[in-house]
Amino acid sequence: MSGGAVGRSYPRLEGREKVTGTARYAVEYPVDGITYGWAVPAAAVRGRITRVDTAPALAVPGVLAVLHHGNAPRLAPGSEPELWLLQEPAVRYRGQLIAVVVATTLEAAREGARLVRIDYDAGPHSTVLTADHPGLYRPEHVNPSYPTDTAEGDFDAGYAAAPIRVDATYRTPAYHNNPMEPHATTAQWHDGRLLVHDSNQGASPVQAMLAELFELPTESIRVVARHVGGGFGSKGFAKAAVVLAALAARHVDRPVKLALTRQQLFGPVGYRTPTIQRVRLAADADGRLTAVCHDAISQTSTIREFAEQTAVYTRSMYAAPHRRTTHRLVRLDVPTPFWMRAPGECPGAYALESAMDELATEVGIDPVELRIRNDPAVDPDQGKPFTSRNLVACLREGAERFGWPDRDPTPRSRRDGRWLVGTGMAGSSYPARSMPASATATARPDGSFLIRIDATDIGTGARTAIWQVAADALGVPPERVEIRIGDSDLPTARLAGGSMGTATWSWAVIRAAQALREKLRDTPLADSEVTAAVNTEEEVGGQPTLPRYAYGAQFVEVRVDADTGEVRVNRMLGVFAAGRVVNPATARSQLIGGMTMGLSMALHEEGVLDERYGDWVNHDLATYHITGCADVEQIEAYWVDESDDELNPAGVKGIGEIGIVGTAAAVANAVHHATGVRIRDLPIRLDKLISPSPLA
Ligand code: MOS
Repeated sequence: MSGGAVGRSYPRLEGREKVTGTARYAVEYPVDGITYGWAVPAAAVRGRITRVDTAPALAVPGVLAVLHHGNAPRLAPGSEPELWLLQEPAVRYRGQLIAVVVATTLEAAREGARLVRIDYDAGPHSTVLTADHPGLYRPEHVNPSYPTDTAEGDFDAGYAAAPIRVDATYRTPAYHNNPMEPHATTAQWHDGRLLVHDSNQGASPVQAMLAELFELPTESIRVVARHVGGGFGSKGFAKAAVVLAALAARHVDRPVKLALTRQQLFGPVGYRTPTIQRVRLAADADGRLTAVCHDAISQTSTIREFAEQTAVYTRSMYAAPHRRTTHRLVRLDVPTPFWMRAPGECPGAYALESAMDELATEVGIDPVELRIRNDPAVDPDQGKPFTSRNLVACLREGAERFGWPDRDPTPRSRRDGRWLVGTGMAGSSYPARSMPASATATARPDGSFLIRIDATDIGTGARTAIWQVAADALGVPPERVEIRIGDSDLPTARLAGGSMGTATWSWAVIRAAQALREKLRDTPLADSEVTAAVNTEEEVGGQPTLPRYAYGAQFVEVRVDADTGEVRVNRMLGVFAAGRVVNPATARSQLIGGMTMGLSMALHEEGVLDERYGDWVNHDLATYHITGCADVEQIEAYWVDESDDELNPAGVKGIGEIGIVGTAAAVANAVHHATGVRIRDLPIRLDKLISPSPLA
């Protein structure tokens, strides 16, 4: 690559549109004859709908229709049972979206939804994950296609023989994705063709799913997702809003806008599964791990299997001759869990990185040094060398910047008035994968260039990063490049997910730019445009499968009120190794965003489930707490220089998820250092810190 756009901070290309309110999100497009849909959630947990009384709703002025399983347009029973909405009377979880009211105003739709009367024949339900649930089973594999269990050496013998052991069980609750923009869609049918403006993480996959459900060729469906107000995984696939809006628009033969309410984000769009994780570590007197075992339990629904890869993090993070990981699942009468920022790695790292801290205390060595001593030379799981592994560099630089070396390891050794002060740290890793994609590059007679690819900017700055990469690949200043993304009519790419976006899209864009330059060498530009089109399927698929990960080291200082147990975070500092950084300003935001979400997980977030009710009782941001700016006084993200040519042409590893991994463990480890209390079930609430015995 030539030029110098990559590596420089540019403000987001659409920043002005966003801050001035002119950037249009999914339900902000003006459409003639628009109507509004409002979804109705099930009030039973498990059973059947026996009667739907639509009369009171239809009596509301402006209400046009009430759709339910008895009258909704038919969908093909496709590959995704979750999306087979309004097709059958079965209720599989409380809150399942079972009807839609359509009206000429939003207010009438809402009022109508309140008045729909639904009777159920409900049976007993099971909604609580327990370590001894009779329904526990071993899934065939875990997401996306990892082996369910792994074993190397003889864990039991290695563990029994070791002088130092840790055996601890960690629990994480359900976590709910709450992007600022809810799942929302404007759907319009014109002559049998469907146009949707939808909030998602990938227009092409949503288009493919709608084609399957509505039995249409993909060319008959256009999905536009120009601006998306966050997703975090929950919009990584077609979800209820887009299907309900399309069904409703077809039924009333008018365009429909449908946005899920904040309350409806707590279930129907998926959530991070609760986990119960037992971690056993054994080490010699020098802190070298001899045996590692991570047994993870999580849940899925009765609708379909979602098997989160909770223990996969432990397979490649630290070396040990005897290793075992297992996953067990139970089908409950709950909504299907789904992706949430670093699914698997994030809760898995909370358990392993907490256990490593417990081991450091047992052995009596520094937790940074413990991790350096156990850094593997090759991937312990696959036995192959990593494309690059700079965890140790992150640990060293993080320790230096944070001021770690002066730390007295004794818990409760620092006090500042009524505050107990402590520091903690954790390691972090996340896979650095890429997907195939298509793209075109066009040279125009006026000297400008156009890049087209169905990438999605979910608020990350992806549009700007692609623009920078494209400019360098074309060998022109970025001002001469125009980027078009977020539309299924553009060359197909997959979702913004798995921290794969920039690696995937830049790969295709660089190849398209190269192809265009070659074309222009043969046929110099005259009066008309010249376009080159590429698809990286073969090149990406043919890549050698060496283990590839981004790494990080997280450092946290907390203070805990000795009387009340209140936790305040003085500072958080992360150092990451994530390949080439395309745009330092947006990269820093991404990393800090991940760390902030990890802090939220450590201190606040918790879906509180009531088994009698069969659902979480906190369905809004008043009762489901998330972190705010006031929770942390200083938060910093840095990265080490890393050049890895094996990854992809841009040399990027992806930074969307690495920032959240390890954060919660670092906070919990700091709280332990401050107080001497080890919290093994998140969140770290003050009642857990002062009970059974007060800190003071
Ligand atoms: Mo992310 S959970 O892969 O969108």
